[in-house]
Amino acid sequence: MDPSLAVPAHVAIIMDGNGRWATQRGLPRIEGHRRGVETVRAVSRAARDLGVRMLTLYAFSVENWRRPAEEIGALMGLLEHYLRRELDNLRREGIRLRTIGRTQDLPAGVQARLREAEAETRHLTGYTLVLALNYGSRTEVAEAARAYAAAVAAGRQPAGEASWEHFRRYLYTAELPDPDLVVRTSGETRLSNFLLLQAAYAEFHFTPVLWPDFSRADLEAAIADYQGRERRFGRTSAQVEPAGT
Ligand code: FPP
Repeated sequence: MDPSLAVPAHVAIIMDGNGRWATQRGLPRIEGHRRGVETVRAVSRAARDLGVRMLTLYAFSVENWRRPAEEIGALMGLLEHYLRRELDNLRREGIRLRTIGRTQDLPAGVQARLREAEAETRHLTGYTLVLALNYGSRTEVAEAARAYAAAVAAGRQPAGEASWEHFRRYLYTAELPDPDLVVRTSGETRLSNFLLLQAAYAEFHFTPVLWPDFSRADLEAAIADYQGRERRFGRTSAQVEPAGT
């Protein structure tokens, strides 16, 4: 990456490949998730050091409930352990923790840790770590549509004003900026129901690296890829970069 060029303010990552990482080593899948948590710690720190302001991680999707109960239980255990262990570090390093998704359906212990971490870091503004937990774009849109319709029915939202700017306030991400860069690891090139609307103008970077192996250098490579793109937001090249500049 080039430190003189703009760094994406908001990076969102689909962390994929934990299971394959473990299987390749003859280990149980949960070992891959355990290593994946170490990568969460390292990459969160690296992103902040590189000047990223917000990092969103797809940690558990609404579809992940289809996994074997044992794996779900282990993932929830890892999440709770991470939150318990990380709170001091978040505070010390000035990191705000936020969540998006139906966290109300997560185990009570995880919910309690999340509430505590969100409350105790809410005043920190330099860098935000957003965990997408029990998240799915289609669920998010359906819930937003329901809330929007209720607001119209109650007279709080004028029906004639329907626009993206009004509707987006009902999404889980109402207070968050859109991602500038979306990264997916493990060679898969799908969005898997992640930030479908919010990523409308995002750049995409796909890497074959499995999440437990994803390093600071891999994040720098993703940012370098981003820095090589021209973001036009519907305009022409000449408008974005007028001749002679
Ligand atoms: C994808 O790998 C990973 C997940 C579904 C879970 C990601 C969760 C963590 C890294 C741990 C918990 C998170 C935090 C924030 C502490 P996969 O199992 O789909 O891999 P595979 O495609 O190779 O099977």
